[in-house]
Amino acid sequence: MRGRAGRDPLREMLRIALERARLGRPAKSAMLVGLRGVGKTVLLDRIRQDAEAAGIHTIWIEAPEGRSLPAILAPQLRQALLRLSALASAKAYAIRGLRALAGFAGKLKATYHDIEVGFDFEPEPGLADNGDLEHDLQALFEQVGLAARAAGTAVALFVDELQYVEEDQLAALITAMHRTEQRQLPIILVGAGLPQLRGQMGNARSYAERLFEFPDIGPLSDAAARQAIARPIVHEGAAISDEAVDRIQELTQGYAYFLQEWGSHAWRVAPMSPIGLHDVEVASTLAIAALDESFFRVRFDRCTPKEKRYLRAMADLGAGPHRSGDVAVCYGAKVSALAPTRSSLIKKGMVWSPSHGDTAFTVPMFDEFMRRIMPGTDWRE
Ligand SMILES: Nc1ncnc2c1ncn2[C@@H]1O[C@H](COP(=O)(O)OP(=O)(O)OP(=O)(O)O)[C@@H](O)[C@H]1O
Ligand SMILES: [Mg+2]
Repeated sequence: MRGRAGRDPLREMLRIALERARLGRPAKSAMLVGLRGVGKTVLLDRIRQDAEAAGIHTIWIEAPEGRSLPAILAPQLRQALLRLSALASAKAYAIRGLRALAGFAGKLKATYHDIEVGFDFEPEPGLADNGDLEHDLQALFEQVGLAARAAGTAVALFVDELQYVEEDQLAALITAMHRTEQRQLPIILVGAGLPQLRGQMGNARSYAERLFEFPDIGPLSDAAARQAIARPIVHEGAAISDEAVDRIQELTQGYAYFLQEWGSHAWRVAPMSPIGLHDVEVASTLAIAALDESFFRVRFDRCTPKEKRYLRAMADLGAGPHRSGDVAVCYGAKVSALAPTRSSLIKKGMVWSPSHGDTAFTVPMFDEFMRRIMPGTDWRE
């Protein structure tokens, strides 16, 4: 699947995939991709809850910038293996998995200095202890898969912010998933990340696009957005007029994070129920100010002065996407001179490339913010 799916159909699709994996049938892993604040993490967590309710063993990790994948994966795999080792049918396999983990972590520590995990068993010589991530991760996943199969369950790996994983480590993860799929072992990966994740995975392993689904997570549908606005208000025993709901939808364009911000400000400023159009206008000023100080600001603060100017030049051209050449003209420099800046902005997750030579913001409405925070023309030096 490529393209937009509703959130409930997606949950259902993954529920079925996990069930198939558990039964040893072919099942596709999925990467939820979308802009900042569309609700990827919330959705990933729902899917995880669905999986837990169905008796699937889940692992949740967030890939922070600058930490290695084996370092964040190892402690969580250990937990999963320890849980599986408590089940009589899986005990022997899970213990072998824990020995594989000891070999894996012990050997890879030389490369990934941030690995810290407790050892429960001695490593087994030759088991996941090659010292090569790609090889050892496959061997480790194999042991985890065998333990899950013996327990009559599946292991689902949830990885948020997957775009921050370095390419070589992403490649190792894809290869390991490819191997478990070939062997029909019950392991599923459900990832979430910014839109650049699809390209990053394709660069890491050309077959990634075939191996995984990449459902796009976008703004909420009209009906879902209306519900997201009205439900918390109705829950408080109050009401909101239709025009007010329409206006919030228009201002937020259905982006989950913004809906939440406008809804709560409208609720706070309205002197009485029902919340009306005027309340929404008052709330807008406050909602934008709040976003400027948090949601937008934290992203802006992570950029260098040159990156900020690049973003400001993009914003000058509108919401985007924009051609690199147009941004360069607006910035007043050559495309080649700006290429490193553009690359570092992609790496930081600030922008992405929807198609070759195009650049777009990963944060909805970031262009408006950039024009607010760097007004006028001073930024041009
Ligand atoms: N289905 C939904 N209905 C209503 N509101 C939602 C929904 N999903 C998310 N939200 C709201 O949007 C906010 C942002 O959601 P979430 O943190 O999942 O976004 P995200 O895509 O993970 O963003 P980021 O890329 O910044 O991590 C949540 O705090 C929640 O208030
Ligand atoms: Mg998130």
